[in-house]
Amino acid sequence: MKEIENDADIRLLVDDFYGKVKKDELLGPVFAARIKNWDEHLPRMYRFWASLLFGTPGYAGNPFEKHLGLELKKEHFDRWLQLFESTLDTNFKGSRAEEARQRARSIASIFMYKLSRFDAP
Ligand code: HEM
Repeated sequence: MKEIENDADIRLLVDDFYGKVKKDELLGPVFAARIKNWDEHLPRMYRFWASLLFGTPGYAGNPFEKHLGLELKKEHFDRWLQLFESTLDTNFKGSRAEEARQRARSIASIFMYKLSRFDAP
């Protein structure tokens, strides 16, 4: 267990997390239906997390918009966070790992709130 301190650590975090997501019976199908090319999605997520945790420029996008139309419910976000946090806990410790946990929780709750307004039936 180590600090998240460089790009290799970010790749480990993202690769391990999406490995779990793909196998998950609730989240796997949601991603499989939307993501055609994981070789594009994963590097985008490396850049996203590097920008949040290290302030590295390189991620550009509107993450919220990408979640419209997926019909995500609270159970999806609960599972997402459970997998993300277990990935953190098995691989990392320290302040950046805690920051990643807090950022994920706060983005998840903002997404959930906004989707309840924009994505309602
Ligand atoms: C219910 C939980 C979630 C599900 C099922 C989900 C699913 C997805 C899917 C399918 C995409 C690909 C969209 C596309 O390329 O068309 C995506 C993109 C993305 N997601 Fe999520 N997501 C969830 C939660 C989160 C959370 C909590 C975060 C942030 C901590 C996040 C950050 C992102 C980012 C940054 C992208 C890339 C957006 C871009 O293309 O620039 N997601 N997500």
